Parts: sequence; C-alpha cells; structure tokens
Amino acid sequence: MPSVLVTGAARGIGRATVLRLAAAGWDVVAGVRRAQHGDELAQEKPGRISSLILDLTDEQQVASLEQALPARLDAVVNNAGIAVAGPLEAVSPAELRHQLEVNVVGQAAVTQAVLPRLRESRGRIVFISSVSGRGRHADVRALQRVEVRTRGNGRLAADGARPVGHPRRAD
Ligand SMILES: NC(=O)c1ccc[n+]([C@@H]2O[C@H](COP(=O)([O-])OP(=O)(O)OC[C@H]3O[C@@H](n4cnc5c(N)ncnc54)[C@H](OP(=O)(O)O)[C@@H]3O)[C@@H](O)[C@H]2O)c1
Repeated sequence: MPSVLVTGAARGIGRATVLRLAAAGWDVVAGVRRAQHGDELAQEKPGRISSLILDLTDEQQVASLEQALPARLDAVVNNAGIAVAGPLEAVSPAELRHQLEVNVVGQAAVTQAVLPRLRESRGRIVFISSVSGRGRHADVRALQRVEVRTRGNGRLAADGARPVGHPRRAD
C-alpha cells in the first residue's frame, strides 16, 4: 500500500485528509502535537493509521522523522499551519516570526527530511496554501505575506526534488 505523512493531522483539513486517504487504502502516518490526538486517529482505522509527535518548530522532532517514518514513503501533505491575520500595525514581529517559522521554515524542514524517501519512491509533495496569498484584503495582509511564501516553498520543492540535471518543467 502507498504511504503518506500528513502534518497537522489532529483536526481540520489535516484530520479529514488522514481519514480520506486511509479510507482510500493508504497507510497514513499522522503528525500530531499531542499523543492523545494520534491515538484517537489510529482508532478510526486500526492498522491503517499510525501517528508520531511532530511540531514543525521543534528541530529534534523534525530530525527524528528519519528514524520514525516507514522505509518507504510515497507522499507528504504539508498541512500543518497557522493563520496570523491582520494589518501590519496590528501584528507583532514575534507573531510574524512564529508564523514564518511554522508555515514556511517548518514546512520546508519537513520536506527536506522526507525528500530522500520521496526521491526513492518517486513520490509526491503537497503544500496546503490559501487563496489569501492572491487577494488584497487589509484584515489578512500578515497572512498573505506568509501564504505567498508557502507557495514559494512548493515551487522550490518542485525544483529541488528534481534529480540533478533533469530539465525544469515549464510553469
Ligand atoms: N480552513 C481554511 O479555510 C483554510 C484556508 C486556506 C488555507 N488553509 C490552510 O490549510 C491548513 C489546515 O487548515 P485548517 O483550517 O485545517 O487549520 P486548523 O483547524 O487550525 O488545524 C491546524 C493544524 O495544524 C497544527 N499545527 C499548528 N501549529 C503547528 C506546529 N507548529 N507544528 C505542527 N502542527 C501544527 C494544529 O495542531 P494542534 O491541533 O495541536 O493545534 C492543527 O492540527 C493550514 O496550513 C491553513 O493555513 C486553511
């Protein structure tokens, strides 16, 4: 069976993705921040869903993916993310830094960690971004700046995952 890592799997889109993929026959590794959430997910589809503790801002947890993941991995869904919305003057630098740490650096770090397996399996990298990266809304501008970078993560991953010397696909 194909296998996939889904980050931010405890609730929302991540949880729905885990259940959908497991129902479709994937072996799913659910990245959660609290063991209880992983246990609850595993009970939904015993034998098909497993979990590991993964906070994208925790370098050790990201590094431990190397040992914790199954030898074969066919996909990663970079879903874990936060939305810090607001006009520039209402969002503190610390909040912006944290959002960049989760939505940009964290997602990139997870992708780096799984890339060797995905190269081996010729697997897929999925980033969950937002239409907020496209629009111009005063109340979400802080989020927009980060979403544009999340999409940049996707493009960089697409380039970086190519074998050296492989021609770049037209956008
Ligand atoms: N819902 C929307 O309308 C919408 C629209 C556009 C884009 N998105 C994007 O889609 C993704 C999922 O959205 P959602 O609405 O399902 O969000 P959500 O319900 O808020 O769930 C976010 C998930 O990410 C996890 N998470 C947060 N910070 C994390 C970190 N540092 N390390 C690891 N996991 C972390 C949360 O874990 P805990 O449960 O432990 O807090 C939670 O499981 C996000 O990237 C979001 O930006 C959502």
